[in-house]
Amino acid sequence: QKEGYRFFMEKEIYEQARVISETLMGRISADSIVLDELSPELLEGINTIKICACGTSYHSGLVASYLFERLAKVRANVEIASEFRYKEPLLTPDTLFVVISQSGETADTLEALKIAKAAGLKTLAICNVDNSSIVRLADATLLTRAGIEKGVASTKAFATQVATLWMVALHIGALKGTIDQQTLASEIHTLLRTPNALHVKDGLHEKIHRLSKRYLHGHGFFFIGRDIFYPLALEGALKLKEISYMHAEGYPAGEMKHGPIALADSGLFTIALMPQTLLYEKTKSNVEELSARDATILAISPKPFDLADDFIQTGDHAHPMSEFFEMMLITQLLALEVAVRLGNDVDMPRNLAKSVTVE
Ligand code: F6R
Repeated sequence: QKEGYRFFMEKEIYEQARVISETLMGRISADSIVLDELSPELLEGINTIKICACGTSYHSGLVASYLFERLAKVRANVEIASEFRYKEPLLTPDTLFVVISQSGETADTLEALKIAKAAGLKTLAICNVDNSSIVRLADATLLTRAGIEKGVASTKAFATQVATLWMVALHIGALKGTIDQQTLASEIHTLLRTPNALHVKDGLHEKIHRLSKRYLHGHGFFFIGRDIFYPLALEGALKLKEISYMHAEGYPAGEMKHGPIALADSGLFTIALMPQTLLYEKTKSNVEELSARDATILAISPKPFDLADDFIQTGDHAHPMSEFFEMMLITQLLALEVAVRLGNDVDMPRNLAKSVTVE
């Protein structure tokens, strides 16, 4: 059932354009977001959104926290479920508690949901598996419609989570009146074109395969980005470490000078996410500092960057989310190609299980 692909993960990366279309289907009209699952009662009196999840799902939650505050003007924070459980969290009734889970069975996320319910909060699950434990417990669910994900390293589930959370942010912003009609129409226009950013363009996979040979024997990777590209950096690093077993970290680009830049030398591989629509100059100057310390730089950007050792040019998008999805695709393919070159079993990485049902 790999349909000609070498690995399920590879197949699932290529499926992303299609599953995003499915996730959006019936939920968007020309000028509004139609999320019947989110009843007016669920959202009434909500001033804060608290998101709780693990791993890759936590990263999509981090992206959502930027979108909720920026688009919906709702206070939003994100917590790792295993931390949330034991910190004696202060929960107030004006909070919508959102859990994100591909499987719907992650033990820590499920327990976090139970804590929120016991505190009387309204709860929403963003989940890929209908009738899972998390779906059964939450007050409301938005299914992500990624289809069955077999690769242990999550790809298409992450993409559909981010798209779903973007829709939720727009929906809440429209309800609260914090997004004007013109902005909403333009966001919807971009959202509907997300599948275009996720098509693997001719030559892209081959290019990543070719350049991946330079990235096999360093002492580690830093993925860096700002704003929503910071959670994407975290996710890119997680994908790479899961299947290549190489050390990788995601960092906010502006934090490198606060310590990690001490690691920079030619054996430090830096994957620089340099979108043109968000803080380009700021990110560029952070990458220049790394280059000055001889770090090996792979720049992913629509704008050519002279100091890069390798450069993957992205499309000329006008919206950060379009840049986000295209760069996500590239980081997934990079992780895949590095792992394949190292001879690893991409679909069954050592020490990992697809669903983590113990804490
Ligand atoms: C990474 C990965 C894990 C999961 C995490 C949460 O590729 O798959 O980090 O994201 O175990 O799983 P779910 O989303 O099923 O709750």
